[in-house]
Amino acid sequence: MTENTAPASPVDPTTTDAWRALEQHDAELYGSLREWFESDPERTRKHSHSAGDLFVDLSKNLVTDETVGLLLRLAEETGVLQRRDAMVRGEHINTTEDRAVLHTALRRPAGASPALEVDGQNIDEDVHSTLDRIAEFARAVRSGEWTGVTGKRIETVVNIGIGGSDLGPVMVYEALRPLADAGISARFISNIDPTDVAQTTEDLDPETTLVIVASKTFTTLETITNARLVRTWLLDGLAAKGVGEDRRDDAVAKHFAAVSTALDKVEEFGIDPKNAFGFWDWVGGRYSVDSAIGTSLAIALGPEVFAELLAGFHTMDEHFLTAAPEENVPLLMGMLNIWNVNFLEAETHAVLPYSQLLHRFPAYLQQLTMESNGKSVRWDGTAVTCETGEIFWGEPGTNGQHAFYQLIHQGTRIIPADFIAFAEPNHPLKDGETDVHELFLANFFAQTKALAFGRTAEEVEAGGTEGALVPARMFSGDRPTTSIMAPKLTPSTLGQLIALYEHITFVQGAVWGINSFDQWGVELGKQLAKDLAPAVSGDQAAMEAEDQSTRALIEFYRGSRR
Ligand code: F6P
Repeated sequence: MTENTAPASPVDPTTTDAWRALEQHDAELYGSLREWFESDPERTRKHSHSAGDLFVDLSKNLVTDETVGLLLRLAEETGVLQRRDAMVRGEHINTTEDRAVLHTALRRPAGASPALEVDGQNIDEDVHSTLDRIAEFARAVRSGEWTGVTGKRIETVVNIGIGGSDLGPVMVYEALRPLADAGISARFISNIDPTDVAQTTEDLDPETTLVIVASKTFTTLETITNARLVRTWLLDGLAAKGVGEDRRDDAVAKHFAAVSTALDKVEEFGIDPKNAFGFWDWVGGRYSVDSAIGTSLAIALGPEVFAELLAGFHTMDEHFLTAAPEENVPLLMGMLNIWNVNFLEAETHAVLPYSQLLHRFPAYLQQLTMESNGKSVRWDGTAVTCETGEIFWGEPGTNGQHAFYQLIHQGTRIIPADFIAFAEPNHPLKDGETDVHELFLANFFAQTKALAFGRTAEEVEAGGTEGALVPARMFSGDRPTTSIMAPKLTPSTLGQLIALYEHITFVQGAVWGINSFDQWGVELGKQLAKDLAPAVSGDQAAMEAEDQSTRALIEFYRGSRR
């Protein structure tokens, strides 16, 4: 399993012995979670594992010991761990862009031995010298040594980015916000809907605002447009406070920083290269929160918190790289997703954090998983041979319980769900004598229990229900869930959780034979938006060239716009 060569062409998973055995096993699988739990008192012990600080209970999934054995065989026959090893060695497994995939290098500790050298570059040195510069910048801003152009301390850092240059920083900031202790809050602008800029800046003071333009390519229409809008807002606001034309360059230098792999474009935009933090083409956008893309986090939460976050990622990387397959949580969870998607025909996957602080985690995961694995061709250009990329979605519990859980409990579709919770509350409030966090966790425990074991007709009737109401109040059970618990939501456990899902995503992509690290599917819409701009602005010739539906929509827009 730990051989060192990556397969050149993907193995077609559906032609493997393991796949055929899984099909057969699926057809013959009988019993229910109730029966499997009753007949095997060791079930939870066997199917729960530790990874770093996370305790992961897989026992409420629709699997037996044999299923798990066959899934691990499938991982072996499709070369998942060889591909993992090729990834961390820096091989160009992102074939369509001819790039290495090295987000794991972003969190290697300083001085890790042996040093990681790829394509002639000492990756560890590059990563740590950038981290040091970010920490220095963050400390200067946090201490007040760095001020705005009028000498005032920075109170708000505004990150302008979209996709991976936004979702990770927002999610982590929201999750760790209680740790923001320097009187600096973070805000995020992503949407090209001008409302986003207008609302985010409306109560901000330009004198105390630092803007970070975060864009891997520094060409993304939304980000560059928003950066220009905010630059105008900032310069106009400062001019109103007496900062004259002659100090405009100073103003940009003191209020704008940038994060990008394209530092030449940053300079063209007018941002001082001293305020620019780089990263590398081997970091995918959706895998970049732990790169310089996290600069807003280092400022608002502190470089020490950012370092703990990275250490958490690394803990999970080490687990993924070294744990035996039978204990390897990302491998097992990735393979369970294969089981759910390709054998049990699940189309979606819910992620339900029982933590208000993780309210943006499902949105973050949507980009991570769906931009990675929403593919129909394999890395050699041939068509995939089975379903790929399930739809990830979710909301924090308990809010979801009062919205969509009905369908998970009693609908006709199978929806595997990950439940995530933390033992320690971030806010230990009491309602009289009642510890409210305990009430919250009681809900977490109750939901996975109800989904697994359901309620039979006899149990419903025993409660005094009769007639047609009985089937309405029955729960079939056998609704698969995974429970993930950690002692507390900390920078480290958050890093572990994010890395866990990165590696789960990797495992699934490796089995399906797809390149989880490109995103060509976003290109056509971007191109067409540019092409359509003249027609939207009233160019008749451009309008004529459009299809009838697009024309009708633009005509409606132009007719309605006052
Ligand atoms: O359009 C998709 C995408 O390329 C994402 O993969 C990326 O995270 C996002 O756009 C933002 O890109 P950039 O950081 O280059 O502005």
